[in-house]
Amino acid sequence: MPSPAIAVTGATGRLGGRVARRLAAAGVPQRLVVRDPERAPQLPGAEVATAGYDDGLAVEAALRGVPTVLLVSASESPDRLRQHETFIDAAAAAGVERVVYISFYGAAPDATFTHARLHWATEQHLRACGLAFVALRDNLYLDFMPALVGDDDVIRGPADGGRVSAVAQDDIADVAAAVLLDPARHDGRVYDLTGPEELTLAEAAAILSAHLGREIRFHDETVEEAYASRAGFGAPGWEVDGWVSTYTAIAAGEMAGVSDVVPRLTGHPATSLAELLARR
Ligand SMILES: NC(=O)c1ccc[n+]([C@@H]2O[C@H](COP(=O)([O-])OP(=O)(O)OC[C@H]3O[C@@H](n4cnc5c(N)ncnc54)[C@H](OP(=O)(O)O)[C@@H]3O)[C@@H](O)[C@H]2O)c1
Repeated sequence: MPSPAIAVTGATGRLGGRVARRLAAAGVPQRLVVRDPERAPQLPGAEVATAGYDDGLAVEAALRGVPTVLLVSASESPDRLRQHETFIDAAAAAGVERVVYISFYGAAPDATFTHARLHWATEQHLRACGLAFVALRDNLYLDFMPALVGDDDVIRGPADGGRVSAVAQDDIADVAAAVLLDPARHDGRVYDLTGPEELTLAEAAAILSAHLGREIRFHDETVEEAYASRAGFGAPGWEVDGWVSTYTAIAAGEMAGVSDVVPRLTGHPATSLAELLARR
């Protein structure tokens, strides 16, 4: 049996699962690289290989013979960058030609959002190891906006009046599928993926209020208040830094701006917050 042309990671999760389902619906063979094969989606034309990103030998075996791989960024952990680097080195050793990487909007070494620095470092590693790559720099997931609302119907964080152009996972998956189906055309491209609008969190709260039928408010915390209000979760410092810097990045203007990548690559408009809520 020849190897499929595409491998997809993260298929047991929300974003990778969406991409895998789109490829299957398009009749495209694929190899799903998952940690737990029992949880791999059953899809026509999909075969399953088992590997965690931190197991270089398993990744190398899982990717052998496959020219193009979608790398969904790892779940947040202290050694996430090392996991990405291990995966990328193993992909190169397996003879993979290109990696389509789920990166983050504004990825930069001095990004305010701490995880955006890690995505930049991952992109640098891809550049350094000589693989062709495509970076999909996703803004905040629009799907997660409702989860920003606390039990008291307040969105709190030090976002000031900054704007965020959050993007729906369905739109990201549509872009990823379009890239994976014609990958060479996109080699070397760094795409900013956003929704169709940039919202302040007060505006997002008003849209959520209209959808939920009760008042959702935005409270602009100070940075000190933000750390204090999250202290009770018992999370490690790097994780709290990530949570808080999501908001300070919005305040700094680093989550703002609307790109045309979703409509240009998918042929349909990007999904707004009101549209996403209405679909639920
Ligand atoms: N832009 C944003 O707003 C935003 C917000 C949160 C997260 N993210 C990033 O976006 C990614 C995708 O989001 P999502 O909603 O699809 O997350 P998700 O539903 O948690 O899915 C993550 C997927 O990646 C796999 N995975 C994670 N770490 C791995 C590792 N070390 N080795 C192998 N597989 C691994 C998971 O496998 P298992 O099922 O085995 O765990 C799962 O299939 C996240 O992993 C995170 O890096 C972005």
